[in-house]
Amino acid sequence: MTVPTRIYLTGFMGSGKSTLGRRLADRLGYDFVDLDRHIERAVGSTVQAIFADQGEEAFRRLEAEHLRTVSRADRVVIALGGGAVTREDNLRFAKEQGRLIYLRMTPRHLADRLETRAASRPMLHEQGHPLSGAALRKRIAALLAQRESFYEQADIVLDVEMEPVDNNVSAAMKALEKQGGK
Ligand code: S3P
Repeated sequence: MTVPTRIYLTGFMGSGKSTLGRRLADRLGYDFVDLDRHIERAVGSTVQAIFADQGEEAFRRLEAEHLRTVSRADRVVIALGGGAVTREDNLRFAKEQGRLIYLRMTPRHLADRLETRAASRPMLHEQGHPLSGAALRKRIAALLAQRESFYEQADIVLDVEMEPVDNNVSAAMKALEKQGGK
């Protein structure tokens, strides 16, 4: 059975793209790239600082550019930032270059996971401060509602919140093998 040479992971912030991505890459003997960390290294600045200094649009331009840079590699698992595929051209590009997997979680579960992790995520801030509690839940539900139609266009959709990571990795492998190489 063949597995595609590039595997992209999408899903909301906090859905576990990096954790699952690393383990999936290990199992396949592929490299792992976290697109946000790649951008931070290339630019010499954190995602948070890029948003604060240059704004979201500047970050989205860097994201689109570096998505294309990291996609020159073969045998790689690439974890995308949660907003990357909300740009149609990025969504189309990822699906052309490999297989796109959506790690789906309910807003309630995402809110629990993000309660202590909103600080590093500017999309979950209001006037420079991380949201929490009811305001955080409201923001997550609204953003997810806007983004779901993009996420759902992935080649593979995995419901990941009920299972341990290793089971989700196995499910991803199975789905990838079923779809074949690209
Ligand atoms: C974003 C998600 C973040 C990062 C940036 C914007 C988003 O990545 O790219 O803060 O718009 O959802 P994670 O999904 O890895 O948190």
